Amino acid sequence: MENLKKDIEKILFDHNEIVAASKRVAKQIEEDYKDKEKEPVLVCTLKGALPFMAELMKHIDIHVVTDFMDVSSYHGGTSSSGTIKIKKDVGMDIEGRDVIIVEDIVDTGRTLKALIETLKARNVASVTCASLVDKPEARIVEVQADYIGVESPNEFLVGFGLDYEEKYRNLPYIGVLKKEIYS
Ligand code: PRP
Repeated sequence: MENLKKDIEKILFDHNEIVAASKRVAKQIEEDYKDKEKEPVLVCTLKGALPFMAELMKHIDIHVVTDFMDVSSYHGGTSSSGTIKIKKDVGMDIEGRDVIIVEDIVDTGRTLKALIETLKARNVASVTCASLVDKPEARIVEVQADYIGVESPNEFLVGFGLDYEEKYRNLPYIGVLKKEIYS
């Protein structure tokens, strides 16, 4: 990955740290869900959470089922939390199920807050969120992931699913992009 690395100012979380964080979150999920009657549903939010979903699920040693959603959040001037547009919905009936949203990042919190509300309205048994990255300083609406991989300073991140103009998602680490790339 030496070619793409030329665009990176600094690496904040290398691949080993991400794998270790994913394992830690997987063990927490295992512990919290092992006694549930039905397998929890891991709902990966496309596209950013795909690499984290793939890493996380490999380390969960209880039965889980997987599904995918693609949403984008909108917020008008008067609404703080906004709503989400569902571009792709889950394929299975999640009523009565324990849902774990798998996110790459909680930034302003708008997407997660609106997604939790959307899923709760479908009469799920419970809904929690596992996010690879938490960026608490960027929060605009009050919401918190239940499982967090790493906590990041308020910088523009790329890699391991996080993009700039749809690029850099394939980096095996999370880093800060050089200013000259986006200015
Ligand atoms: C990103 C990310 C989160 C959201 C976080 O998704 O995957 O879902 O933004 O930001 P927020 O806390 O400010 O709402 P995005 O809509 O960019 O789609 P992507 O995953 O396809 O990149």
